[in-house]
Amino acid sequence: MKYRRILIVCWILSGLLFFYNRTSKPVLVPDIVVIDTANCWTGAGPYQIPIDSIGTLIRYGYQLISNTAQYLGPNGTVTHSTNGMNCQNCHLEAGTKPWGNNYGAVASTYPKIRPRSGKLESIEMRVNDCLQRSLNGAPLDSTSKEMRSIVAYIHWLGKDIPKGEKPKGSGIEDLPYLSRAANPMKGQKDYIISCASCHGINGNGKTALNGIGYLYPPLWGNQSYNDGAGLYRLSRFAGFIKNNMPNPCNYHHTKLSNESAWDIAAYVNSQPRPHKDQSKDWPNISKKPVDCPNGPYTDSFSEKQHKYGPFTMMTKAK
Ligand code: HEC
Ligand code: HEC
Repeated sequence: MKYRRILIVCWILSGLLFFYNRTSKPVLVPDIVVIDTANCWTGAGPYQIPIDSIGTLIRYGYQLISNTAQYLGPNGTVTHSTNGMNCQNCHLEAGTKPWGNNYGAVASTYPKIRPRSGKLESIEMRVNDCLQRSLNGAPLDSTSKEMRSIVAYIHWLGKDIPKGEKPKGSGIEDLPYLSRAANPMKGQKDYIISCASCHGINGNGKTALNGIGYLYPPLWGNQSYNDGAGLYRLSRFAGFIKNNMPNPCNYHHTKLSNESAWDIAAYVNSQPRPHKDQSKDWPNISKKPVDCPNGPYTDSFSEKQHKYGPFTMMTKAK
């Protein structure tokens, strides 16, 4: 009898406590927000990858992109087919960072016709372009587990972007052109002040402490991207470093002026790097972007001007 009374009192008390908690102390469950404050696209993090069989493929793709050297580098566990850089060295935060050369628009815009090859390119072909140019290496078979995983990861990142759309903040920002040519001599001075402490006075970076990949990736020399790579175009290099270097920085807090970004780009891209045979590129040369540093061209501007600018008068002439 006594115990029953105690039980009833406890039951009433716990009920009161429950309602008290509900009315006076609402429990706030924060939403997972992956939108940047300026509404730039930001990719989902690896912890959001689903836990199922497709998730396993996506997760391996994430690992290949963030730690490429471990799998495909000179001492890679799968192949020895790249220069030892990671995709993530250039596609920052595994291709998720706003204006960090991210993959926000890849799933939504590929396959597409690219004027460099003159072909309808799938994501696989585009990835192989970076493997052969940015990583100065060999392509992957499109049916390999590695390629399927990389593509699965890129698809997963961009799955919420409607077909054909390019979200704000995706890829690399286009900086306004300078009214003068970019100046490698000025760029060298700025490079020594802002970049050499990590990437080295000789541009060869610093190998990671465990010997796999880089603590600071190289910017020129044998282990760097070759002269057919995207970063070899001044606008791509300048736009990339403006929002991301000196590391760490982002587009809310940039550290370089536009002028300095263009001049440093000119300095770095005037240094030696591996050569890629590009005789098959640009089957229609009139489609070359103004800052394509390798001739021939349909206009009469010199190769030097196409490399360093000034570009404004060239766009007007087109
Ligand atoms: C040395 C720097 C560098 C490295 C390393 C690199 N890339 Fe790239 N990648 C670029 C640049 C630059 C572009 C062109 C961006 C542009 O045109 O705005 C690009 C473009 C791409 C694109 C197309 C993006 C788009 O929106 O059209 C894909 C996909 C891609 N890279 C995948 C990879 C993968 C996968 C790896 C690793 C196997 C890799 N990249 C390694 C620099 C690099
Ligand atoms: C404090 C060290 C640090 C400084 C200073 C710095 N970087 Fe970097 N940089 C990095 C790191 C680390 C990465 C690779 C990022 C990653 O893997 O997440 C990188 C990546 C790069 C890349 C793409 C990968 C490659 O090697 O091609 C370029 C280009 C680059 N930096 C240029 C510059 C330039 C130009 C400056 C000077 C304006 C600069 N960096 C200053 C640390 C630095």
